[in-house]
Amino acid sequence: MAVDERVGTRTAQLQAERERLVARGIATTPIFVDRAHGARLTDVDGRTYIDFVGGIGTLNGGHTPAKVVAAIHEQADRYLHQCYSIAQYEPFLEVCRRLIDCHPGAGPYKALLVNTGAEATENAIKIARYHTGRQAIVCFENAFHGRTLMGMSLTSKAMPYKKGFGPFAPEIYRALAPYPYRGIGTKEALESVERLFKSQVDPSAVAGMIYEPVQGEGGFHPATEGFVEGLVEICARYGIVYISDEVQSGMCRTGYPAAVTRWGIEPDLCAWGKSMGGGMPIGGVTGRAEIMDSVHPGGLGGTYVGNPVSCAAAIVSLDQVLDPAYQEASRVFGDRLRARLEDVASRSPAVGEVRGLGAMLALELVEDRATKKPAPTIAARTIELARANGLLLMGAGVLSNCIRILVPLVATDADLDEGLAILEASLREATAA
Ligand SMILES: Cc1ncc(COP(=O)(O)O)c(C=O)c1O
Repeated sequence: MAVDERVGTRTAQLQAERERLVARGIATTPIFVDRAHGARLTDVDGRTYIDFVGGIGTLNGGHTPAKVVAAIHEQADRYLHQCYSIAQYEPFLEVCRRLIDCHPGAGPYKALLVNTGAEATENAIKIARYHTGRQAIVCFENAFHGRTLMGMSLTSKAMPYKKGFGPFAPEIYRALAPYPYRGIGTKEALESVERLFKSQVDPSAVAGMIYEPVQGEGGFHPATEGFVEGLVEICARYGIVYISDEVQSGMCRTGYPAAVTRWGIEPDLCAWGKSMGGGMPIGGVTGRAEIMDSVHPGGLGGTYVGNPVSCAAAIVSLDQVLDPAYQEASRVFGDRLRARLEDVASRSPAVGEVRGLGAMLALELVEDRATKKPAPTIAARTIELARANGLLLMGAGVLSNCIRILVPLVATDADLDEGLAILEASLREATAA
């Protein structure tokens, strides 16, 4: 339902307030949520939506999971906040213990808690620089690592993330990332890293390399076979810290606590966020103890890092993520979702490719399957039509022509059936327009 059809509704009143009060730089939709559970939410006018976005990958465990909500209530009655630099508390340690267990490999590992994914990537870079005594960072095409100065500098999409916000952090070098659908495979991408070391920065000056094993905002590109393995080999050769950004791909979205497990890799550092808090703001960095401990006391931290209420929620979420039965269920869910999306694609000529890993899946839309001309307008229109029909979808991709699916892993068959039917009908209508 378009906003102008809602004249006189609570939504229309609140939307007018939003326009008066809230900076327009925060782009959003004209939906005001009243309550949410599982994979559905209800707005202030009683309209219900199936949620295929899940707070952009923050709600793998669904809206208001009962155990997370109970843990939040219990913690809120005891204490809300301390500031970990002033007085410690057990839930912080319990989150670190579990997050370390999410880090692939035997360790020994240590952890640091922060508030957001951007803070996690920022801190991973700080740690890599301190540990190596070097400054340069290698990142990749299609990357998204957050909206802070460093996160934004590492990010590879100009509009809307970088336009007008320069100058960016120095000493950042960008290589190609695999994108087989548009001709970039493992070989080309790895060669571009070696080329960077010849033409732009000597590897002896590089502190860290950061890569999302399934690139999220950039279009849901999973690493190709041999790519992460190749990066890790290059990093080992030159003493570079390898950082796996698991903020969006982690927490069983792809069937594993860390998506990079799929390629048998043990990264030096991992950056975490989003679904680790079950809907509460918390992030973290884990990594090899000698790297994590290289920073002097006081060099890392922040007022709210590892807030106790967020920790209480994270303990429950992480217990779920570490449960092998949940990991297996998320893989089964991902397989089922992919099969369903392939089925939709088989009847939708605008879908050039269904791709992703596990339940982190996207459709890349094209005007013509032969020329692969990107179709950002069809993507935007599909999302708008779906919303009007009760399905939340979100775009992705450097070319803005992808639709990403981050539906909570607790979605029922009915949620999926209904949501996918709306998606297919919206795609059909958007393509015909
Ligand atoms: C891979 C990745 N890294 C970092 C971030 C930044 O996380 P946050 O928005 O919590 O700062 C995101 C957010 O989308 C992300 O997808």
